[in-house]
Amino acid sequence: MVSRVIPVDPFDLVIFGGTGDLARRKILPGLYRRFCSGQMPEGARIIGAARTETDSEGYRKIVSDAIHEFDPKSAQCGKLDAFLSLLEYETVDAMGEAGWNELRPHLRDGHVRAFYFSVGPSLFGILAERLSHFGLVDDESRIVIEKPLGHDLATAKELNATLGAYFDESQIYRIDHYLGKETVQNLMAVRFGNILFEPLWNAQHIDHIQITVAETVGVGGRGGYYDKSGAMRDMVQNHLMQLLCLIAMEPPSQFEPNSVRDEKLKVIRALQPVPPHHIVRGQYDATDSEPSYREDVENARSFTESFIALRCEIANWRWAGTPFYMRTGKKLKARTSEIAVRFKPAPHSIFGEDKETGSQPNELIIRLQPNEGITLSVTIKEPGPGGMRLVNVPLDMTFAEALGEEAEAPDAYERLIMDVIRGNQTLFMRGDEVEAAWAWTDPIIEGWQARHDVPKLYDVGSAGPDDALMLLHRDNRKWRDIKA
Ligand code: BG6
Repeated sequence: MVSRVIPVDPFDLVIFGGTGDLARRKILPGLYRRFCSGQMPEGARIIGAARTETDSEGYRKIVSDAIHEFDPKSAQCGKLDAFLSLLEYETVDAMGEAGWNELRPHLRDGHVRAFYFSVGPSLFGILAERLSHFGLVDDESRIVIEKPLGHDLATAKELNATLGAYFDESQIYRIDHYLGKETVQNLMAVRFGNILFEPLWNAQHIDHIQITVAETVGVGGRGGYYDKSGAMRDMVQNHLMQLLCLIAMEPPSQFEPNSVRDEKLKVIRALQPVPPHHIVRGQYDATDSEPSYREDVENARSFTESFIALRCEIANWRWAGTPFYMRTGKKLKARTSEIAVRFKPAPHSIFGEDKETGSQPNELIIRLQPNEGITLSVTIKEPGPGGMRLVNVPLDMTFAEALGEEAEAPDAYERLIMDVIRGNQTLFMRGDEVEAAWAWTDPIIEGWQARHDVPKLYDVGSAGPDDALMLLHRDNRKWRDIKA
């Protein structure tokens, strides 16, 4: 199966923070891959804007180096010079006056105009104001921002209000890069493109759902940011919440931005408060050769969690009584992200005791990374003589195998940036979703602070603190193994 590439119309994309880490690692190599694939047209213009003193020629060199460093494979596609010729640069002082008037000649009338705020969140509001002040915003303009979108409900509201003063909601693209992952979108295709799953997709037929996002990396050089956030703010309030929404939402009437986002919002609003005994927080401990979390963040008294596991419930007709277990953490056993939907056992076994026959409940595993794909475990008869022994085999829909080399999934960023250009907000968070997610998160975090909750230590390379295992054992269930 060959992937179809539908080119977008020529556009102007201004990247504020265009010389920064995110731009060099993700945004520019991603754009280059879209250019190689033929999706980004020759008539596009990418304008780097940052404080760095350089010019368009200097910027082309910065971007060329970044592509060679962060995506050496694509650098070979043979179109690098043509891509670099689309780049321009302007030195702009976000906080001051310098560079703003000079930015105007880079922008063409009648083209989509996207402003990517690849800068710290403290500049989001300032950039929005400056763009408006210097008359750089037209009807075709849109802005792109990424988390942290506030630190709590109050600051998220403040940010939404500030951006809302200059841009309509339909012009604000809030990235959650998990929504750009191939399998996350496939999850919607599997749920709503087939008749098989939806009739079973409820509390009557599903025993529970596990969402795991495990990482092997620590907090690395991001200690300053991370220690003020922790796994709850850094991962659960956004990425895991989005996964939960897509798994749990009602079928939208159309695959269209507001239909999808309305349904996600209903899920977040139906999330029950989580009692303290349904949450386990952890911090990774030191090993002989590696520092502890506290050493990594240089805060010997840190109570911030680098791991969290929660048991959540959604109070609506579809899901009442079905636990959604979520966990995420740093320095765990393997890098793996997956959603596991565990169905209930068949109501009656005609083959005898399940323990004897080997029958197991069905499980649908949606693997986000690595090896993106979807597996459905089904029970069949073990081949050969020897009576009716049953085995569980996976129906494997690993995309790389099913679709061949062409199926190499585009990086989340490149897909999402093309959606910005196309003006499709389906895979972007709406302001009210972000606020609702904080409204659920805030009391949980406030509870820890009020109780002086201390995270449990866990070993590097483990599955998190033992208490996280207990969270499921208490319910007579078991986490799936964390393995790559
Ligand atoms: C980011 C978090 O949003 O997502 C990081 O800030 C985390 O802490 C990262 O490591 C995980 O993303 P991915 O795509 O590597 O799973």
